[in-house]
Amino acid sequence: MEDKVRHITNAILFDEDMPLQGDREVRDIAVKDNTVTVTIAVSKVNDSAARFNMEDTIRDAIHAEFSDADVRIVSLAIDGVDEPRGNCEFSGSHASKNMPEKKAIPGVKHVWLISSCKGGVGKSTVALNTALALKAHGRKVALLDLDLYGPSIPALVGTDLPPIVVGNLIVPPEIHGLSVLSIGFMIEKDQPLMWRGPMVAGVINQLLWEVDWSGNDDLVIDMPPGTGDTYLSILQSIEVDAALLVTTPSELALADVKRGVGVFEPYQVKVAGVIENMATYDWDGREGVLSLLNSIQTTDEASLKSIERIRKILETTKSIRIFGNNTQAMCYEMKLPLVASIPLDIALQNDNDSGTPYMLNPKKKGIQEAFDKIADFILKLADESPNSEN
Ligand SMILES: Nc1ncnc2c1ncn2[C@@H]1O[C@H](COP(=O)(O)OP(=O)(O)OP(=O)(O)O)[C@@H](O)[C@H]1O
Ligand SMILES: [Mg+2]
Repeated sequence: MEDKVRHITNAILFDEDMPLQGDREVRDIAVKDNTVTVTIAVSKVNDSAARFNMEDTIRDAIHAEFSDADVRIVSLAIDGVDEPRGNCEFSGSHASKNMPEKKAIPGVKHVWLISSCKGGVGKSTVALNTALALKAHGRKVALLDLDLYGPSIPALVGTDLPPIVVGNLIVPPEIHGLSVLSIGFMIEKDQPLMWRGPMVAGVINQLLWEVDWSGNDDLVIDMPPGTGDTYLSILQSIEVDAALLVTTPSELALADVKRGVGVFEPYQVKVAGVIENMATYDWDGREGVLSLLNSIQTTDEASLKSIERIRKILETTKSIRIFGNNTQAMCYEMKLPLVASIPLDIALQNDNDSGTPYMLNPKKKGIQEAFDKIADFILKLADESPNSEN
C-alpha cells in the first residue's frame, strides 16, 4: 500500500498543472490500521490556497484507490524551517521594535487568552467553562470578556449586573464563583456597539487597569473574533502566560488558526495549544433505535438482513465528524498540542442559551472531561511558568 500511495502522491506533487510549483518531496508515508498519513514537504507552505488544493487532490486520489482509508495529509516547509507564518491583515503583524513595555496585571498570577482568528467557533463557551473547571480545582479565577462589539459572557452567565466602583477601581461582580467583567455589564442590552479605533484602546485600558483584579490565580480572557485593535492593545501591553486557540475541524477554521499563530509571534506571546470544538456529534437517539431493533421479532430472512444493515450503520456512525478531521494533522504541522476535543452537544447549546454554564449543570455529561482537560493543561503551564510560585 505504501508504494502505491507514494506513487500516487509523487504523480500529483510533480504534475506541472498543479498550482503549487517549487521544491516538493514526499517525506513520509505511515499506514496504521485504517489511517494513511502522508507527509509532504513543499517550499511554498504558506501559499494556503495552492497548498489546500494540492492536499485535496492527493487525498482524493488516494481515496479513489483505497476508498476505506482515512487519509491525512501533513504539509511541512521543505527546508525544515517554517517560513514566517501569518498573513493576517493586522496592523501589529510587524510589531515595532519600540513597542511599549508589557506590564503584569496587578493582583493576577496568570493570564490566559482564549482566542482564534475566526468567529463563532466557541471561544466564549470555552473561556467560561474552562474558568469554571479551573475554579473546581480550587483556583481563584477571573473571567474578562474582551469582545467589545459582541460581548457574549453576560448571556452565558445569565446575568448582566453592573459592576460597582469602589474608590476609583471597578470591582467585577462575583458570578458563579468567578470575578466576571464584560462591557456588556455596562451598556444597555441590545445597544449596538460601534467603537472607533482609539476608543477601543481606551475601553480595554479601563477593563484591564482600572479594575480590582486582586486575589486571582488566573485571569481567563475571552478574545473577540478577528484580529483587530483589541489584539494590538492586549498583545503589546500586558504580560500573558499563553494563548490557546479554539477551532472547529473545518479547513476554513484551521486556516484561520494558522494565521492566528502568526498574530501572536511578533509579540512573543506563546501559543500553547489548540482546542478543537464541535469536533464530533454523538446522536443520543441511537440507543433508542438500537433497542427498538433488538425488540423486533422476525424470522424473515430479508427483514433480518435489513435489521443487521441498520445496526451496522448505527455502529459505524456512533460519533460523526461533521466538520472534518484535520485538526490533528494541522497540530502536527504547527508543532502544537491538541489540548482537548469538545463534541457538538445540544445540552451545551441549551445551557448557553439559558445562561446556565454547562460545568454547573448537575446533569452535565461527557463534555465536562474536555473542559477538565483544558484546565489540567493550563495548571501544568502555570506550574512550569518561571514567573510564579504556582
Ligand atoms: N460544543 C458545542 N456544542 C454545541 N453548541 C456549541 C458548542 N460550542 C459552542 N456552541 C454554540 O456555538 C455558538 C458560538 O459559540 P461561542 O459564542 O462560544 O463562540 P465564539 O467563538 O465566542 O463566537 P464569537 O466569535 O462571536 O465571539 C453559540 O451558540 C454556542 O452556544
Ligand atoms: Mg465570543
